[in-house]
Amino acid sequence: MIIKNAKYLNSQGKFQEGAISIRNGRIDDLNCNLKAGNTEKVIDASGFLILPGAVDPHVHFREPGQLYKEGIANGSMAALKGGVTTILDMPNNKPPCSTENKLRRKKEIFREKCLINWGLLFHATRNQRGGAADKIASAKIFMAKSSEHPAVTSVETLKQIFSRFPVVSIHAEDETKFDHSAGKKYVHHINRPWTAITSALQKIEKAYLALPQKKRPRVVICHLNTADDVDWIAAMKNKGFDVWGETCPHYLFFTQNDYIRNGAKYQVNPPLRTYEDQQHILEGLKKGIIDFIGSDHAPHSPAEKSSLNPPSGIAGIEWLMPFVLHLVDTGMIDWKRFHEIICRKAADCYSIKYRDGIKAGNFADLVFVSKCENPAKAERIITRAGFNPYYSHIDFKWKVQTTIVNGVIKYDGKKFYKTKKGMEV
Ligand code: DOR
Ligand code: ZN
Repeated sequence: MIIKNAKYLNSQGKFQEGAISIRNGRIDDLNCNLKAGNTEKVIDASGFLILPGAVDPHVHFREPGQLYKEGIANGSMAALKGGVTTILDMPNNKPPCSTENKLRRKKEIFREKCLINWGLLFHATRNQRGGAADKIASAKIFMAKSSEHPAVTSVETLKQIFSRFPVVSIHAEDETKFDHSAGKKYVHHINRPWTAITSALQKIEKAYLALPQKKRPRVVICHLNTADDVDWIAAMKNKGFDVWGETCPHYLFFTQNDYIRNGAKYQVNPPLRTYEDQQHILEGLKKGIIDFIGSDHAPHSPAEKSSLNPPSGIAGIEWLMPFVLHLVDTGMIDWKRFHEIICRKAADCYSIKYRDGIKAGNFADLVFVSKCENPAKAERIITRAGFNPYYSHIDFKWKVQTTIVNGVIKYDGKKFYKTKKGMEV
């Protein structure tokens, strides 16, 4: 396939023009000559910008176990609409992905159903032995309960887990600090206060420093949501430690006031925080203290969200690329940071090969976008969460017009093409 009239973002974060040839799913040449008599399929990209497919390192597709909330097939369609070509799926399934058998079975379902590229995280627990025999992207540690397994809240257990896995991704919210005082009106961010974050970070640091340098894993702190955790990441990086930070669209755009005003639709773990936290996170993202954005796509059914005891989670993958483009439009980040945030940093962090941008030899994971007036207005929502959390906050200006995965068009702005499945990364 050849993409002519291509204006693409290169791996230095600059726009270039040319014709992109794709062979065996990979980018073969970024400046190929379109010869007379060419027999390859040619698509014309005039009027579009071509961007690297997003690598979203944090999603909950809920399969196996909770298909009614999303599922791999549906979640990967929402991803394609959001310009996401690679995801890493979280292990807090029902049952959780915490044994070798469950990991193997989960991989089988992903191979069969996932339209985009994927990798899996393994649920680390207290009484596990060894690592995961099969390939994993990382081990996930929940310091607040998120599955049938108890949360990991002791320094000793953190140390054990750190010494068993080369990469760990942590939900750094220490549930022993949650406020369960009876009779109080439930307010999510008060029940799960920021002290739970600082306590978790102290325990992580203690466990990390207690290990000899060679036994320390790469540590990813998921969903940074307070000024404290941004400062902590900066300090750890300054000391030369292999520590990475992720934040999510909802912490960049919403505050606890959105939760106060709208209730459960904006209830998420860790909770939304103050305006000051939000500004600090934006600054951290701009400066590169925070490495990348994960959607933390965590859909629940509309009925669950409107129940008396609503679950936490916001679904965001469907708007990920337009969201990050909005950050460029408003001057919060430049194109170089866009490139790092959208694919390069997550690919580096999780050792995802050949998917760190538009360059010869990389897989052809490409997204065509163009500007149009409020595309969210008339859209059909794909995620089973059935709700666009940004709708009331952002006039999106960008629409994903085509998503190409491994050189194959999987979404053309209207329809999804499901024959070819994604690859494990
Ligand atoms: O809000 C959240 N929802 N945070 C998590 O850590 C888990 C997620 C879920 O699985 O619903
Ligand atoms: Zn999550």
